[in-house]
Amino acid sequence: MQMNNKNIVLIGMPGSGKTTFSKKIQNHFLSKYEIKDTDVLIEEKENKTINEIFEEFGESYFRKLESELVESVSKENMKIISTGGGVILNPQNMKFLGNNGIIIFIDRPLHKIIEDFKGDNRPLVRNKIEKLETLYKERIELYKQYSDYIINNENTVEDFLLEIDKILKKENIEL
Ligand code: S3P
Repeated sequence: MQMNNKNIVLIGMPGSGKTTFSKKIQNHFLSKYEIKDTDVLIEEKENKTINEIFEEFGESYFRKLESELVESVSKENMKIISTGGGVILNPQNMKFLGNNGIIIFIDRPLHKIIEDFKGDNRPLVRNKIEKLETLYKERIELYKQYSDYIINNENTVEDFLLEIDKILKKENIEL
């Protein structure tokens, strides 16, 4: 049977667990799929942190870099793509990602994200817990709209990986 070599794309709010779970998925399934973390790739390309890019050039410049990166990474196959929380703000990004990927929304309840966020340093959330609430309200429908699957991240890592396993079987993907 022909296997599906589409990408696995993780979307969700900052703090929902995209980066962590991309690594968990890779380790658990001893996967040959490579992780592409769009924020990390942007930082490497620009040789600046995301914070520095926001501070020096502003959010719209960051969004432009993010879209370019998403377009190029979407053309690859067999990748676990961990996206930035704002990737869903641009429909074009989601078109590229969806064309060649299974999009999984990691849904972590807002109160859990806020609990974890104490002391975090990312630009859109730094010292701005209430901003997270606004972002969540603005974005929740978009995350749902663009996802092929939704996994609730309230339970254990094992539960999460079981859900991933079901998706892989259904989609005929061998990581
Ligand atoms: C952003 C989330 C960040 C990063 C940037 C903007 C957002 O990624 O892309 O700070 O708009 O939600 P994480 O979701 O990995 O924190």
